[in-house]
Amino acid sequence: MSDEAGIKQSEGEVYFPSQSVIDNAHCKDYDSMYKRSIEDPEKFWGDIAEEFEWSQKWDKVYDESTPPFFKWFTGGKTNIVTNAIDRHLKTFRKNKLALIWESESGDDVRTYSYFSLNREVIKFANVLKSMGVQKGDIVTIYMPRVPELMFAMLACAKIGAAHSVVYGGFSVEALAERIEDAQSKVLITADGGYMRGKIVNLKQIADEALARQGTIEHCVVVRRTGHEIYMEPGRDYWYHDLLSVPVVNQPCETEQVDAETMLFILYTSGTTGRPKGVIHTHGGYMVYTATTFKYVFDINDEDRYWCAADPGWITGHSYIVYAPLLNGSTSFMYEGAPNFPYPNRWWKMIEKYGITILYTAPTAIRGLMRFGNAWPNRHDLSSLRILGSVGEPINPEAWKWYYEVIGKSNCPVMDTWWQTETGGFMITPLPVTPLKPGSATRPFFGIDVDVLDLDGKSAPTGEEGILVIKKPWPAIMRGILHDPERYKQQYWSKYTTMYEAGDSARKDKDGYIWVIGRLDDVIKVSGYRLGTAEIESALVSHSAVAEAAAIGLPHDVKGHVIHCYVVLRAGYAASDSLVEELKKHVGHEIGPIAKPEKVNFMDSLPKTRSGKIMRRLLKARALGLPEGDKSTLEE
Ligand code: PRX
Repeated sequence: MSDEAGIKQSEGEVYFPSQSVIDNAHCKDYDSMYKRSIEDPEKFWGDIAEEFEWSQKWDKVYDESTPPFFKWFTGGKTNIVTNAIDRHLKTFRKNKLALIWESESGDDVRTYSYFSLNREVIKFANVLKSMGVQKGDIVTIYMPRVPELMFAMLACAKIGAAHSVVYGGFSVEALAERIEDAQSKVLITADGGYMRGKIVNLKQIADEALARQGTIEHCVVVRRTGHEIYMEPGRDYWYHDLLSVPVVNQPCETEQVDAETMLFILYTSGTTGRPKGVIHTHGGYMVYTATTFKYVFDINDEDRYWCAADPGWITGHSYIVYAPLLNGSTSFMYEGAPNFPYPNRWWKMIEKYGITILYTAPTAIRGLMRFGNAWPNRHDLSSLRILGSVGEPINPEAWKWYYEVIGKSNCPVMDTWWQTETGGFMITPLPVTPLKPGSATRPFFGIDVDVLDLDGKSAPTGEEGILVIKKPWPAIMRGILHDPERYKQQYWSKYTTMYEAGDSARKDKDGYIWVIGRLDDVIKVSGYRLGTAEIESALVSHSAVAEAAAIGLPHDVKGHVIHCYVVLRAGYAASDSLVEELKKHVGHEIGPIAKPEKVNFMDSLPKTRSGKIMRRLLKARALGLPEGDKSTLEE
């Protein structure tokens, strides 16, 4: 390994970490630690779990008695909040900053020490209890990127309830169906949020969603924008009003729960049908996310860490809320858009707060790269020491820009491959790993990955195949809410003993994994995961549409964009205004991120003889590629 950071051309494009990065690393010898984790995972994870607080120790580290429903730390009792907040209050971290938050306008900065975070979470927990929320209930949270979103999540966990956060960029139908599936009785929302200087009217969207479902009894509304909103008497309560209720200011103990108690569900898109509620639990998720965070970002008490994702996605759950707090770190959260009001917004905040670790997505990097180097170059970014990427494959051009222009060739880029279902990083470099731009490199500790061919054998080096994980890990999803069969079907039906991720990948001669993309009908738009089925069902809910197909086509900044093909009902004629109306309709039902870039009208959709839409064919035609095997096409 070289002492200086930089490229060693003879080995292809490999970037080696600098000596200072190596000196700082929690793990200096990946190979031996990885070997230990694979040879004896029970000992490996058991030893790590000992570092956390448990009110009762587990009987078994790993329970595989009912595959594929794997359990970890069974018999153990703890609460993720005991470890994310309570235990820090007994140390110097009590007065350490847990969170620094800046509003989009920049006029408002709020900071919370672990002590004051605890106070906020207790108040929110008491509010939930006063509304009758009990252990095992699922509370839906629909919020902008404000500290109260974090408090609400932690409050649910503290009292043993689960949260279901619906990303604030989702809209009416997406929210309604998630509330209904979770059977939530309480919704936590805000009057609105800010995005690019404009108010997003969250409460109005929530009101429309509430009219479409029948389970919510109480709605807690946090005031953020202060604009006029409708409040339904007996159902809607201002959070700040509830804070004056005496019981809210009482102490609140952190409920001790079984390790396997549900911590949250998070809906994500799959191949077919409605989004599925992926389940994660207190024990295994806690141990795994905290450990990945510690080693991949080499976190120290001096760090100021910024994950620029939204807390409403798994990246935010694991790496804005839980893992940083479990490590007693200081996080930064920013409310708004990266280029608002100018493209230097992020760089300015890195300088202002002395951010040391920045974790973001390729789409954001490509978006900011477009504005040129002068914007970041105006700022002192020398506080940065590690960079991170997640959400989709990062193209080498964006990787290099990130590494050179933002990281000044001193900060290794942690390209972390993982999923909502995996809970935490799965394939990722450590800061000491030699890097190849575009590769997520090697598996994390305890993760046994392979790339298989269609027969289920390891694919030859360099050849594309199906990405699988051969052994369960502590943060593996515990199933899909209300639908154990779908869990088995989707992830365990092809290889039965291996978790199928739904991605294709290849392995190079050094054992590095190069993730290529989704194998199924999931489209990644700006890193957000959307299912073709959801977009199609939003389209057919419009009175003009008889049938619809959605596909993802490559895009320079967003990774992919959505193109739709619709067959109109009799009596409707194709027009430009109908195209606009359909785009708007999808945006209203699912959210602005799902808005199709293009809507094409067709007389009929290409289908197989069994009636399945041949999206592959539509895609090949749109890209001008060979149409491939058409033998199953219905004439
Ligand atoms: O296709 C992979 C892609 O994102 C999918 C998971 O999406 P989601 O559940 O929304 O979680 C995103 C954040 C963890 C994966 O199946 N993906 C995620 N990270 C990477 C990636 N593809 C390539 N490289 C990555 N680093």
